[in-house]
Amino acid sequence: MSIKLRDVNGIPLNLGLDPDWIASIPDFPVSPGDLYVATYPKSGTTWVQQIMSLVQKGGEKETHLLFDVPWLEFMGKDRALALSPPRTLKCHLPYHMMPGRDPANSTGKYIYVARNPKDVAVSFYYHTKRLLPYEFTGDWDCFFECFMKGEVDFGSWFDHILDWWKHKDAENILFLKYEDLKKDLSGSVKTIAQFMGYSLDDATIEKITRQSTFDSMKDDPLATYDKVPDVQKVLASDATPFIRKGIIGDWKNHFSPEQSARFDAEYTKRMSGTDLEFDFE
Ligand code: A3P
Repeated sequence: MSIKLRDVNGIPLNLGLDPDWIASIPDFPVSPGDLYVATYPKSGTTWVQQIMSLVQKGGEKETHLLFDVPWLEFMGKDRALALSPPRTLKCHLPYHMMPGRDPANSTGKYIYVARNPKDVAVSFYYHTKRLLPYEFTGDWDCFFECFMKGEVDFGSWFDHILDWWKHKDAENILFLKYEDLKKDLSGSVKTIAQFMGYSLDDATIEKITRQSTFDSMKDDPLATYDKVPDVQKVLASDATPFIRKGIIGDWKNHFSPEQSARFDAEYTKRMSGTDLEFDFE
């Protein structure tokens, strides 16, 4: 049982993405002021999109995140080329496949969000089950094997994070962790706003924080994808909500002791040499 994906320059991607467009994205221009949220899927992308969008709008939002921070890979070449700079975009691509090929040496700004990979895997399992085009009908054990092999949408978590991690200290890259947003949301909102070049007063930070909590976003029709008609068409009948649980440690409800040990061994092997640590509890 596998997930329906297509290889584009060595990366398995969902069939909703145009392979010619993806292959040409490294040639897409980067202009001063362009802002990206870059993530491996299921790492808190939507959460940071919400914060970015609220920062840009001073805490008052009237349009969906789909329009405020559109997804570069999905929008296709024509829509992307029609955007005038500065652009605010979401991207799941590996570092070297990003516009300009080398974000750290470009004129753009990048917020990279990383999440502990065991929770990423669980969140990705529900995501892959909920969207019919993946044609995935397997169970958790089956998805775990796909995740370990990197045979999931956007490929291996390890490859993605290691590529971006090398550039984490670049001035134009803000490397954040999902778990840190959970621990201190208003502090994270402040950090994001400052990085984006905004100096916001405490009341605005508070307003943005309130609209970025899990409970507030779960029912926010401008943040969740569950009510977007094009998404609804491809949702499985038993689909879990897009903004699903939003906790640290859901992996403990899914990983068997053997899976956890295997994952830990792989983590040690692949991540040694980095001082990247996650909160798994
Ligand atoms: P879970 O499936 O573990 O609940 P992405 O946006 O990168 O696809 O990530 C989706 C994950 O982020 C989901 O995780 C979702 O619930 C979680 N998430 C979204 N908004 C959140 C928020 N405000 N607080 C905490 N988690 C949030």
